[in-house]
Amino acid sequence: MKVLVVGNGGREHAIAWKISQSPLVKEVFIAKGSAGVDAKRVDINPTDVKTLADFAQREGIDFTIVGPEAPLVEGIVDEFEKRGLKIFGPSQKASLLEASKVFAKDFMLKHGIPTANFEVFDDPDKAKRFIRDFGAPVVVKADGLAGGKGAIVCKTEQSAIEAVDFLMVRKALGKAGERVVIEEFLEGEEGSYIVMVNGEEYIPLPTSQDHKRLLDGDKGPNTGGMGAYSPNPFIDEKTEQEIRKNIIEKTLKALAKEGIYYRGFLYAGLMLTSEGPKVLEFNVRLGDPEAQPLLMRIKGDFLEKLINFYEGRSISLEIDNRCALCVVLASKGYPENPEVGKEIRGLEEAKKEEVIIFYAGTKIENGKLLTAGGRVLNVCAWGEDIKEAKVKAYKAIEKISFEGMQYRKDIGDKAIRFLGL
Ligand code: AMP
Ligand code: GLY
Repeated sequence: MKVLVVGNGGREHAIAWKISQSPLVKEVFIAKGSAGVDAKRVDINPTDVKTLADFAQREGIDFTIVGPEAPLVEGIVDEFEKRGLKIFGPSQKASLLEASKVFAKDFMLKHGIPTANFEVFDDPDKAKRFIRDFGAPVVVKADGLAGGKGAIVCKTEQSAIEAVDFLMVRKALGKAGERVVIEEFLEGEEGSYIVMVNGEEYIPLPTSQDHKRLLDGDKGPNTGGMGAYSPNPFIDEKTEQEIRKNIIEKTLKALAKEGIYYRGFLYAGLMLTSEGPKVLEFNVRLGDPEAQPLLMRIKGDFLEKLINFYEGRSISLEIDNRCALCVVLASKGYPENPEVGKEIRGLEEAKKEEVIIFYAGTKIENGKLLTAGGRVLNVCAWGEDIKEAKVKAYKAIEKISFEGMQYRKDIGDKAIRFLGL
């Protein structure tokens, strides 16, 4: 089979890595991928959906897997399906669950899916008045896509008002911030719960925990994610049952009721509050970096399972009991303004350790591997527990360097503390 993976990040490298292990595979293509990814790179932008469909037809691609949200929101699945091409991901309409926070919040409210209380504003003055009445803490969120940077957690009224100015008056995130959701601040541990969906059928993937903030101790601005591990010990069996019943199953029923057919990965970003799990956001894809540790824990031929599931046959996944952990190495200036073009050193030495390294923002120039984006490398390891996985990943990271390299030193610590390891 020929398989096409769409996307440029560490998540897509991990998908290509996992899929390449399938005996069904003859060739894996990736559009565009990053330098160093073990798949054949295709020089077409992930959002150029018509050109990608042309390529898939010409090349005889048997199955396509979409990594990021942008092509989904652009309608890649609709375009491929129109041409009879098999592709795993939700339609443009279904992708609204991620593309519009307002759509997602209204959907959750309408269907009784637990989420933070909220109001929607398209007028900055009204938003500010609301903040003065409501007080802090609150979270101000851009309605549209913002690469994980559109949610601003505000501890004070003043910072919430500044967030409204940033999004709605200065329009720092463009159209995405013209409408905002302002919602109550929820306390708790976070969890990522990702399932594979085909209509009302779903298969849960292993639980995971992301680290959205840039700095140790969950300080600094939100990012796309600075590290992740799986499993997430804060999601015990009882909580998982609650998530499945009150969130996933309700959501799938609600989608069906709205006449929206959903096929693809569905990611619920959760806050585990004292009142039970609540949805912070839906994503219509695998998380990045959650996909990396998560795919490392799925045993066997994932491609075969995915295709069977896509075709409507029942499947079950076998999960590795070991833990997996991923640390993101990012460029100086990430997330606002990453510096790129820096030479990456020490990778060969690092690869001698028991790790897997997935490439994200990298490029090759004059035979040298250079940084080419905000998140550059994902250093991942397995361990009998999270502590062992953490030690292995950080040991390899010591060997890697590039100018301005920044990363969190505390990926895994929350779980280690919680479990008393
Ligand atoms: P989102 O893009 O909506 O998932 O938000 C990004 C991050 O902001 C989340 O992973 C949380 O860390 C934080 N966040 C979002 N909404 C809330 C909320 N209502 N209460 C507390 N933290 C939140
Ligand atoms: N790591 C969070 C996300 O992929 O949205």
